[in-house]
Amino acid sequence: MPASLIGVGVGPGDPELLTTRALRVLREADRVYAPSLAVDAVGRAESIVRGADPAIAVERLVFTMTRRDDARTASHQEAAERVIACLDAGERVAFITLGDPNIYSTFSDLAALVTVARPDVPVETVPGIMAFQELAARAGVVVTDGVERLSLVAAIDGADVLDAPLADPAAALVVYKGGRHLPDIAKRLADAGRLDGAVFGELLGLPGERVGSVEDAATGPGTYLATIVVPPAERAPQ
Ligand SMILES: C[S@@+](CC[C@H](N)C(=O)[O-])C[C@H]1O[C@@H](n2cnc3c(N)ncnc32)[C@H](O)[C@@H]1O
Repeated sequence: MPASLIGVGVGPGDPELLTTRALRVLREADRVYAPSLAVDAVGRAESIVRGADPAIAVERLVFTMTRRDDARTASHQEAAERVIACLDAGERVAFITLGDPNIYSTFSDLAALVTVARPDVPVETVPGIMAFQELAARAGVVVTDGVERLSLVAAIDGADVLDAPLADPAAALVVYKGGRHLPDIAKRLADAGRLDGAVFGELLGLPGERVGSVEDAATGPGTYLATIVVPPAERAPQ
């Protein structure tokens, strides 16, 4: 098998949500890397893989998780260089990410750097179950039906990103990265008449998990690993 780089989604938290394809690819890989905040810190993705199969050896690549700045760029470049050394040695390298590797994932940055340096190395991904899918299942929410639309926003800078999607009553809305702004988000939903039915999931499948209504959760900020699903205000006719 030629050298390749594969981004593998491991789901939001519960090892049962790791797919059989993901497990097979991880078992077949010569090397499995996980993003981590420090060499001695087990990241979320690594803990999911350990829970699913402790025999899979996971190595850590340290990523600086700040906004786009020099430290972050340097940590990504260093991680890419470690991966490139493995690829040059002919290895199949897997890189695990929370949820899906093509949605708000460190893998896309890493893959771009590797592709610039080694354009002939194949890059693939294995899809993963996303946090909002697990939240919808746990909370019993139908996200979309018929011809309803779906918006996914990253609210890391605040609740303003909700305004455009909330203007469409036949669209469901998923909010990622908004934990810090949870009270503001709840107010924005209430102002738009969309608080009723909106659900909140924090640390899904992980220690400290919370699942419930946005209204109940919004007494203070949530954590970074928090997701909101807002169903459409009006269900489209079938
Ligand atoms: C960097 S993005 C990763 C998204 C991931 N690639 C996916 O497909 O779901 C991080 C955001 O995903 C959501 N998220 C990921 N895992 C989660 C979990 N276990 N519980 C709640 N939200 C989670 C949160 O909104 C968090 O801010």
